[in-house]
Amino acid sequence: MTNLWGSRMEKDLDREVKEFSTSIPEDFLLYKYDVWGSAAHCKMLEKVGMISEKESKEILRGLREIFREIEEGKIDPSPFEDIHSLVEIRLRDMIGEEIGGKLHTARSRNDQVVLDERLFLREKIGEMAEGINFVQEALLQKAQENKDVVMPGYTHLQPAQPVLFAHHLLAYFFMLQRDVERLEDARKRVNVLPLGSGALSGTSLPIDREYVAKLLSFPRVQENSMDAVSDRDFILEILGALSILFLHLSRWGEEIVLWSSPAFNFLEIDDAFTTGSSIMPQKKNPDVAELLRGKTGEVVSSWVSLTITLKGLPLTYNRDLQQDKPPLFRAVRETLSSLHIAARLTQNVFPNRESMKKALSIGFLTATDLCEYLVEQGVPFRQAHAWVGEIVKKLSSTGKCLRDLRKEDWGEYQNLFPQNWEEIIDEEKSVRRKASQGSTSPQEVEKEIKKGKELLAQSRELVYSWRRREKESWENLVGENCVF
Ligand code: ARG
Repeated sequence: MTNLWGSRMEKDLDREVKEFSTSIPEDFLLYKYDVWGSAAHCKMLEKVGMISEKESKEILRGLREIFREIEEGKIDPSPFEDIHSLVEIRLRDMIGEEIGGKLHTARSRNDQVVLDERLFLREKIGEMAEGINFVQEALLQKAQENKDVVMPGYTHLQPAQPVLFAHHLLAYFFMLQRDVERLEDARKRVNVLPLGSGALSGTSLPIDREYVAKLLSFPRVQENSMDAVSDRDFILEILGALSILFLHLSRWGEEIVLWSSPAFNFLEIDDAFTTGSSIMPQKKNPDVAELLRGKTGEVVSSWVSLTITLKGLPLTYNRDLQQDKPPLFRAVRETLSSLHIAARLTQNVFPNRESMKKALSIGFLTATDLCEYLVEQGVPFRQAHAWVGEIVKKLSSTGKCLRDLRKEDWGEYQNLFPQNWEEIIDEEKSVRRKASQGSTSPQEVEKEIKKGKELLAQSRELVYSWRRREKESWENLVGENCVF
């Protein structure tokens, strides 16, 4: 037997239909969560007197055994409709119909599947948060090691103003910080117990949902049984957060691609993180950064895929909902592997100080500094802007830069020509002159680094506390011989 139903039908399930409708190739990886949730359900049935202590012990022993069998690769999942069928049918085989047949009391696969997904996602959120922290740590470290490196900052990819390389890196740190916070926040809505909703309307049997929530370390139970079995927005929210995360990773990837190109030559990528060409022997290609950019499509499309699945579905459970798993698993898998490699790539890129310095002299990067100097002398900003614009026009038409400017060229502003002209247009001094909060000045960047370290420590502490509670629940229910 490989189905949990059948007595109502005159015929066996058509083979092609069976193949078409199975979810086992995807949801097999939920086995741990299916065993975990089943163990909690069993303990609850015992507590409310629906099964005896002896029966409960027997079921728990069976569940542990199934977990071990699966871990050791002893079960062929292919004949089963889904992971829930596999665990229950194997249990009944193992401990007999009399006791094994009681586990599914007051439970439906409809509340069971969302429980499994919530347990899975809760755990993966912790892992993904750690992955993001790993990239953040690499950015922070790189920023710290290169605190004095100045480079051109861009708008429209045109030279704009000088900035510290560290400041540019830390911009990514804070984007990623919001990504972690989005996951942390979404976890509150993942961390809710759906079990006990039955197929859709609850049950007449005397179950205790609060007790199950406590056993599985859920802070609360879902209020509405119909919502509980229909809702997948807890997944959608995570996929949305991961899409944004990948938009950030793809921008960092793009800058690595751009900066490592000879046209910029701002970054050197360690050889072990680049590839060559099968025909052009000179090539050193930034494939890892490109793939970070490329994989973004996969994650964003996961969000789109589930959105389309959910649109317009009538309440409550519909088999369409089974299609939530491929995008969920794909996005989580890509996220975990991409974050790890993104962190290592970040550790393995090295700024090319000389090229950055050379690039500072192109593009009149300190033109705004000149305006700010004039403003300090009492010239209205608009007037200063217009005047400096004139100067730039004159210089660029003759292929000169700000350093070539002489007092005579200042015309009506000659009396304002600064003594410390060289200093005002010096790109490194420009960076140091910045005074506003959050600016690229070394003092502000130092503050960013300090803040970044605090945020990382907080995030780590939070993930540990989640993991401690999850592990405790698993160990109480499934036991020590089954590794968490
Ligand atoms: N494999 C199913 C899914 O992933 C489990 C729920 C099945 N429920 C049902 N009523 N057929 O959605």
